[in-house]
This record gives sequence, structure tokens and C-alpha cells, in this order.
Amino acid sequence: MSDGSAPEAPQAHGTSTRLGPEDAPGITVPDPQPGDLAEDPDLDELVDRLDLRQQVRLLTGADFWALHPEPAVGLRRMVTSDGPAGVRGEAWDERDPSASTPSPTALAATWDPARIERLGRLLAAEARAKGVDVLLAPTINLHRTPFGGRHFECLSEDPLLTAVIATAYVRGVQSQGVAATVKHFVANDSETDRFSVDVRADPRTLRELYLAPFEHVLAHARPWAVMAAYNSVDGTTMTESPLLVDVLKGEWGFDGVVVSDWFATRSTEAAGAGGLDLAMPGPRGPWGDALVEAVEAGRVDAAAVRDKVHRLLLLAQRVGALEGTFAPVPEPWPADRVAGELRSAAAAGFVLARNEGDLLPLRREDLSRVALIGPDSATGRLMGGGSATVFPAYTVGPLEGLRRVLGADVEVSHHVAVNSTDRTAPLPVEWLRGGAEVRFLAADGTELHRETRHAGSLMYLGTIADGVTVSDVASVSLTARVEVPVDGRYDVGVAGVGPFVLTVDGRTVLDSVVRLPEGADPIEGMMRPPMQVAEVELRAGTTVELGLRHEPVSADGFGDVDTATMTFKLLLAPVQVPDEDLLEQAVAAAAAADVAVVVVGTTAEVESEGFDRETLALPGRQDDLVRRVVAANPRTVVVVNSGAPVLLPWADEVPAVLLTWFPGQEFGNALSDVLLGAREPGGRLPVSWPASADGLPSTRPVDGVLDYAEGLRIGYRRGEDAAPPLFGFGHGLGYSSVELGEVSVTGEAASGLAVSVPVTCTGRRSGRHVVQVYASRADTAVDRVPRWLVGFVPVDVTPGQTVTATVPVARRALEHWDVSTGSWQLEPGAFRLHVGLSLAAADAGTEVG
Ligand code: BGC
Repeated sequence: MSDGSAPEAPQAHGTSTRLGPEDAPGITVPDPQPGDLAEDPDLDELVDRLDLRQQVRLLTGADFWALHPEPAVGLRRMVTSDGPAGVRGEAWDERDPSASTPSPTALAATWDPARIERLGRLLAAEARAKGVDVLLAPTINLHRTPFGGRHFECLSEDPLLTAVIATAYVRGVQSQGVAATVKHFVANDSETDRFSVDVRADPRTLRELYLAPFEHVLAHARPWAVMAAYNSVDGTTMTESPLLVDVLKGEWGFDGVVVSDWFATRSTEAAGAGGLDLAMPGPRGPWGDALVEAVEAGRVDAAAVRDKVHRLLLLAQRVGALEGTFAPVPEPWPADRVAGELRSAAAAGFVLARNEGDLLPLRREDLSRVALIGPDSATGRLMGGGSATVFPAYTVGPLEGLRRVLGADVEVSHHVAVNSTDRTAPLPVEWLRGGAEVRFLAADGTELHRETRHAGSLMYLGTIADGVTVSDVASVSLTARVEVPVDGRYDVGVAGVGPFVLTVDGRTVLDSVVRLPEGADPIEGMMRPPMQVAEVELRAGTTVELGLRHEPVSADGFGDVDTATMTFKLLLAPVQVPDEDLLEQAVAAAAAADVAVVVVGTTAEVESEGFDRETLALPGRQDDLVRRVVAANPRTVVVVNSGAPVLLPWADEVPAVLLTWFPGQEFGNALSDVLLGAREPGGRLPVSWPASADGLPSTRPVDGVLDYAEGLRIGYRRGEDAAPPLFGFGHGLGYSSVELGEVSVTGEAASGLAVSVPVTCTGRRSGRHVVQVYASRADTAVDRVPRWLVGFVPVDVTPGQTVTATVPVARRALEHWDVSTGSWQLEPGAFRLHVGLSLAAADAGTEVG
């Protein structure tokens, strides 16, 4: 493969290149790892030891997450797990907690490959501790439009930033002997009809935007697995796509395993003969006996099966799952080191978008009263929904974080202020007395399994316990003794799919069948399941017994009964108080405070895998809330806690706007660090933050087709003059200030350039800044976007210090995909390179050729 381990000769103008190390200077290509040898004769010998049936058996999962062991070749069971903002492990609940990292967009906002590589090592240590061999991450689809509901799980709208951050992530994970899986190959950039949508993108757009991160990561980090997406591209479903054979494995020389997205394998023969290697999950699926028959009948070449098995054994060798091979022991990550890393990573991704009059950082000595306001300001929203969900052992929300750092002599009052959702929350665990008893019964009433849980939200995928799967269960019952903290009227209810009976102290309050809306993505049944509630009066100090009986139904469209999923949530929350009453209290508290901190954001029903967004507006009356608070107290900081851009129509009315993404379990600590100035808000925007939704690409297919008609013009590539953003790409203020000196450029476009600029710290604080280099091309025969990112480097400076930043610009960053020859070409003539601390601030440019 073009693994970049040997430097390639510089190419002349106008010829096509493959990626080599010079395309990502600053990133060293990993040394060959044990098991890198795709042609390993020992592996061939192992494949030969297996008959066709044994070979084919390995190519479908053993269950939802694991692969089959094969004693005949010394292969142990290998386990996969999601990713990317933590490692969940095989259980989907609180019993196997995970470190929850900032969401991937926040990781890209750091623009800091060294940090992300370190985080990758942390994730690998988590994976190993949980018995996970293959992490199903990172997600390197692009932010084609903020309407994408799963935007938070992707890194950036820019293919180069995505590629560099993902390369660091993969290298960190794999350096510890855990496989990374770059996903979802390719053009799974939104969720609407994701199982069937046919994406149409012209070849240049596909190459320069959507395939580019995969190509780069393959060349520079050698991922051991790639996940084939659900969607189709140009009429062929991705698990059968010629792009797997011709481009991924052919042109780019990928030697790892192509694993299907879950349930994405659609055929025996087309997928079996094609580039897909592993159909997940199992144990059933379209391969198995049907593939054995197809090979025996000569409809699928036996060599195709052998190649898949070879790749699987190579993966096993790489992760140490084959007898005689060992994965490295990951470096130790004691709990306090993990906490510190998560805390600093969150702060490093926060983007200070606006800071009029230097309101931030706050000075502790000026504060005696702080009003913390917003529907989710106590806990914050820490992660996006879907397969990226993990269950951290603890979380620190803004309220706890601020109270902890400000201490007892500063009063931090808390005000929900408006309702951002009309859904009822799951039973808070702290109201549980003694845990919830869950019993699983077979059709004849025998108890299959029983467990005690500390959660109000239960989710099972395939396996429930040893020897018990969801499909064995005819009914499940949950009994919970609960005590509420204050007297009042409460909504008690269920969320899930199927028949439910809910009792309170033995009295039936709900007996109904809850259904998913027609055509909904099955993951919607897990992430925002339909709900039903009843109102009850509860008293503090009195324990009530809640009983829930449910008959699971298989979620249509998400595989067969062997791997059925079961989700149900026991809901309990005070009946919502009307916004107007809450708002009045919050505004009064803001007026009386030294500073108001308003946390606004999206909800679990807005940003998740499985569906896209209907609107970019903040849910509920949050815009109104911000306006009323800032009118009452001009010292207002707005913290935007969303995974992706939301519209902020009041942005120029508030002095300080801090964008925090979904920051993971250490949110509250990182936030108080940044608000009080103990840490820098280190982030720079990895996505253009739009001022309005006008002109943004849609995620809605028409007659099954999603046309990427905007071509190359996504995000900032639309042109900041044509579509002025609210906050532009690469923007972020930080707390320190720097000045850039004179730019100098060495090298040639054909062989790679180095752009140097002195960075002088002019402020009183040390800080980190990101020197960004963009290219433009005036005199051109090629249709081009106004400017595009070609390189960047983070620089640390201390007051008075000047550091020279050197940004490598690879030839590839200046090339375009030439459709007529089907190759990368460097247009002869001069490009301009623009240097600055954001796209908007980049200079008039230096001519290079
Ligand atoms: C998601 C993948 C994920 C898989 C397993 C799919 O629905 O698209 O990203 O890895 O489920 O959870």
C-alpha cells in the first residue's frame, strides 16, 4: 500500500501523486507494526487449515459485538465496541462505566494532533480494560450541513482538519495494540433515510471532500479497519460498492478489514464477492450457509472468501488475538490522570467566540453572587445520542463545577428558566431507594434472569445475560422504590416501543401500546422513544413503588430477532412549570447577580444518530431567555452547549459567547476553569458557524436520492463574503493575544512548501494559538472555492516571547481531482497562500508556485 513509509520522489507539475509522508509534514508515519505484512505466508497457511464452512463462519459476527473464535487456528474471540467519544464495551449501561471524552467536533476544535493522539492512547487503555480489541471510531464523515443530526460525532467540515485529527486519533489508539475503525465509508454525512439513501456527488467533490480524509488517514495512520456505511453512493449500497475494491483496497492499498455498519450487509453474492470482509452483527446475517452455497456453486470465488479471512487473521495478529501474538500493554491511566486529561481536553476545545470588554475571564474577587441559568445548566449535555453514548462513572455539570471552584463565600443560584423539551426525563437515580429490580420472563412465565439496576433508562442489544438474549424474553418487569425530594405533582411514565403497564403502589396508571412513528430509524426507538405519562401527586419522605411490565417487540428494520434490541425508560419528573413563571425568577436573579451565566443548548431529541435536525434554532424559549437576562444584567456570559451550530440571533447583544460543544463528563470542571481563567478556552472553530440557515445544504432525500448539488461549496467553502457566517471558520479568541510577523515561504508547490511566521505574544497571559494557512487561486482553469485550508500548526507562547511557527503545506493540499484523467493534478501557475489566526483574519497572501 502507499503507506508513506518510504519517501516518494517529488513529482513534476501536472502529474498525479499518491499521498506520502511529505503530504502531512509534522506527522510521522508509524513504524511497521507486527502483523503489517499483508502477504504473510504464515497467515495463508492458517487460512488453508480452515475448510470453507469454517472460513465463512468467521465472516459474520458471533453476537452483537464479538467475532467468532476459531480454535483450529488459535484465534480467540475478538470484541468490537463504539466509539468515538469513549469506549462503551459490550454492555449498554451503567454497569460498565467509561471515560467520556468531549464529542469529536470538540476534539477537532483543539486543532491539536498531539493532544488527540494522547487521548487515543487513553481510549486504547479503556478498550483493553474492557476486553475490547476493535474500537469503532473515529467517525470521519464531514459536516456537510449543520442540519445533520449526527454532526457532533464527526470532526469538521474541512477534509484536511478532519484528516489530521483523525490520523492522530488512530495512531494513538493503534499504538497501544487496539484497532481503530475509520467510518463510515463514505458519504454518510446525514441521517435521514440513512439505510437506503442514495448519495449523488460528482467525482471531484467525492475525492476532494468526502474520500479525502479516508485517503489521508489510510496513508498516514494505517488503520486496521474501515466501516462500510449504510447508504448508497451512485446507486450502489456501500457494502457492495466498487469504491471498496477499486479505490480503498486497490488504489490506496488498504490491507485491513472492511466491516459493515451494523445490519448494513444486504446480499450474499454481491457483498460476498466484493470488498466487504466482515458482516456485523451476528450470529445471523446474509452470509453463513448462503455464502458457502454460493462459493460451492461457483457464484462467488473461493479466493474472495480466503482474502477476507486472511484480513481478519491479520487483524487478529495486530490486536494480539492470534495464538503466539501479543498486543502491547497500554500505558497506565490511573483515575486522576484520566480526569485531568478529560478536563483539559474539554477546555482545549471550548471556543471563545465573543468577549466584549474582556468580560471573561471572570475575577473571583469581584464575585459574591453568580446566577447560573438555563434548562440544562445543572448537568449540561455531555454527549450526543446514539451509538456514541457511553456511561461515565461520574459527571460534573456546570452547577457543581462552579460551586466547587467558587467556594462557599460566593452564592451560585440555579434557575432552569425555560423548558427546552416537553419530554419527561428518566427517573433520576438519586431518587431510587435500593436499586430497581428487573426480571426477564419467558413465554411460559419462567424467570430467565433477574438483575438489580441503578438506572431509570434500560437498553439491551442482543444479549441480556449469559445464555439469555432479547429474543428469548416474552416480558420484562421492573420494580423500583422511589422517593421524590419535594412534594408536588409529577409526571410518571414510560418511553419505549411496545405494550407497557405502569403501576404506582399497585394502582395501574398506564396500560397502552407505544409505537414508533412510521418510517422512523430504529435507533430513534432507543434515543427518543415515544413516551406516555400520567400525572400523580407524590410526597417527599414517602416511598412509592413503581412497577413497569413490558413486552418487547423487535424494532422493525434493525435486523432479525436474534439481535433484537429492547429499550425502555421509566420516566419521573415534576410536572413542568410554565416558562413565564420560571423566566421571571431567573431574570430577577440575574439582575441581582454580579454575573449571569446562561447555558443554552440542544436536547437529546434534537441531536442524535438516527435523525437529522428540523431547525437550527435553539429549542424552546431559550433565545427569549438570553435576551431577557442580558437586558437585566449586561454582565452576561452565554455558554452554548450544543454538538453543532445553532442559530444565535442575539449574539451581538451579549458580551461573551463561549461555545462548548458536548464536552464529556468533566464539563463542569472545565467550564469553571475557563470562566475563572485557570485555563484558556483553547478551541478554534472547526466548522463555520452560520448566521442563518439560508442556503445550507439539505439532508432530505428526494425520491430516495440525496444530491450533493452544492459540490465543493460546503461550510466556509461557500465563501465568507457570499454567505457571511456569525462566527467564521478557524475563529476563536482565547485569553492571550499575539501578533504575526512577516511570512516567509520555502520550497515549491510540486514538492511541498513550508510557511513560516513569527508569532509574538503581546498580552499578559501565555496562550495557545493556531496558525492557519489557506490557499487561493486567481488565474485558474479549474472551478475553485475562494479559499481552502492547506495547513496549520498550534503554537504556545508566553508573554513577550516570539516563536516562529512553521506550517508544512503538502503538494496534495494544492492539487485538484481531475475528472477527465481520473487523477490528482497540480495546475501549473501560481497559488496564493494566506496566513492568519482564522480564515477571516488570514492575510492578503504570498504568491507561490
Ligand atoms: C452506527 C455505527 C456504529 C454501529 C454499532 C450503527 O448504527 O452507524 O457508527 O458503530 O451502529 O453500534
